[in-house]
Order: sequence, then structure tokens, then C-alpha cells
Amino acid sequence: MPFDVVVLGSANIDVVVQVARIPAPGETVLGAGRAQHPGGKGLNQAVAAARAGASTAFVGTVGRDREGDLLLATMRTEGIDITAVTRVDEPTGTALVVVQESGENSIVVVPGANGSPTGFPTEDAELFGPKTVFVVQLEIPLPRVLEGVARAHAAGALVLLNAAPARPLPDSLLASVDVLVVNEHESVALTGSDDPGQAARVLAAWVGDVVVTLGAEGAVHVTGDGSRTSEPGRSADVVDTTGAGDAFVGVLAAALATGTGLPRALHRAVAAGSLAVEKRGAVPSMPTYDEIDVRAGQ
Ligand code: RIB
Repeated sequence: MPFDVVVLGSANIDVVVQVARIPAPGETVLGAGRAQHPGGKGLNQAVAAARAGASTAFVGTVGRDREGDLLLATMRTEGIDITAVTRVDEPTGTALVVVQESGENSIVVVPGANGSPTGFPTEDAELFGPKTVFVVQLEIPLPRVLEGVARAHAAGALVLLNAAPARPLPDSLLASVDVLVVNEHESVALTGSDDPGQAARVLAAWVGDVVVTLGAEGAVHVTGDGSRTSEPGRSADVVDTTGAGDAFVGVLAAALATGTGLPRALHRAVAAGSLAVEKRGAVPSMPTYDEIDVRAGQ
């Protein structure tokens, strides 16, 4: 049965510590509050989509270790389909997350199993329908991204690429992307332009619909014909920004998959991002459909 949202991407165990401020190169600082949470951009986005009410499947790779067991248990608990999750011999991905008092973070990802070349283990017909939104980020090997986008595009799904972390992308990939979501740093890294406004226009000329997330300032939607619509940010009590961008992407995908137009979907996605920064951790901070409704003012 096709899913509303299919997320291809990384799944990590996040090891998180709190610090007064992120250390400079060569500096040692004392931290506190070591915690471990499920994370990874792919899994975060899948959880966000599922909690926002979309039937969701995850496509990814985890190790045959305890951490892999834990991530699979999280997916089951969240009601995410795991038919297309493969277990491989490499250790499950790990992210070392340092969160400073302002809520900003610094992250090192050790891909482990996420770096496996393993492709889709299921038939496309089991995953994609014409109303499916396919979501992928760039924390897994590029050939897997290309394979996923090609399959989803061929099946008529809407392809949403979250180009995080940014890396050079082939034109053939961008030609199959319907909606590109980037933050300002990523838009600049992808285009080489150091002016975010110009970078967004360049990306929109390539892809069509580009959404640039602006953190506390909300997001802008830029189209290929140059039109630009802003969705203002929501005030929030920031404790940890980890996963806020993933909440945005997952909720955007869930809204688009259930027939919501892009302006309204952006409104819900910004509300979701503002809720995610108010809780610690990535997966633990993903909001529910009702919480998004309240924050979005519906
Ligand atoms: O976007 C936040 C995520 O980036 C974390 O959960 C971490 O695992 C890294 O993938």
C-alpha cells in the first residue's frame, strides 16, 4: 500500500551534552547532562511526518547492534513502516551533539551503517503512489539519494530534497526535485553565491519551488518565476535547536501529502519548527498534529 510520506535517510543515536558555550578549536570545556536520544535527519523527519498524521515509511540502514534495535523500536512505536529498513554489519550511526545555553548546537556525525551502499529492499509499488511525498536528505551516500529520487520520480511521487548537509549535486538530481528545502548556509554552499537572496533565486531557477528556512525568522518560498512569499517565525522558548529543521521538513511533507497547499503547509512547518526548539533532543522534540494546530492558530 502506498504511503503518504516515504523518507529515505539516516538514523542515528544522538549522544548529547549541554555546555555553557561551544568550545573553540583546541579548547576544552566542561559539560553536563549527558543524554542519548534517537536522531538522524532521516529518522527525525519520518517521526515528524508520522506525528503530524501522515502514514509514513522509512528507508534506511541500521547496524545489527543494540543501537539498531533501539532505533527500530522507536520506528515501531511511532507507527512508521520499517519494511524497507535494512540491517547491515557496520555499527549504527552516531551523532555527537553539543548544545550551548542559547540552544544552538554543533554536531559531528559518524555515519556507520548510514554509509552502507545498500539500496531499496522493496518494490516501488509497495511504497509510492502518485500522492506520495518522497523526502530525502544528504546524510547518506549520494548514489542512494540518486536511486531513491529516480524511483520516486518515476512512480509519480512528489520529490522533496532537504539538501542538508550541503554538498555539490549533479544537475540530473535537481531536475527530478519538485521542492528543495535548504537553510541560508546550504543555499549559499550549493550556489557559490554569498548573497542568500541571490542564492535562493538561482536555486529556484533550477528546481522551481525552493523553501529557505530562516530559523527564528520563519521561512521564505521562492519560485522559478521569481515570486517570493514569506512565512514569519513564531516566538518560542528556545532550549535546544537540534532537529528543528527536521521537524519543519517532516511536517511540510505530511501537509503536502494530505492535500494542503504550499502556503498553508509552510505555516504548519514553521509552527512545528518553533515547537521543536522548546524541548531537548531530536526525535523527542517532534510535535504532534494537535500541538501544531494550536501553535499554528487553527
Ligand atoms: O538534524 C539534526 C540531526 O543531525 C541529529 O539528530 C543528528 O543525528 C544529525 O543527523
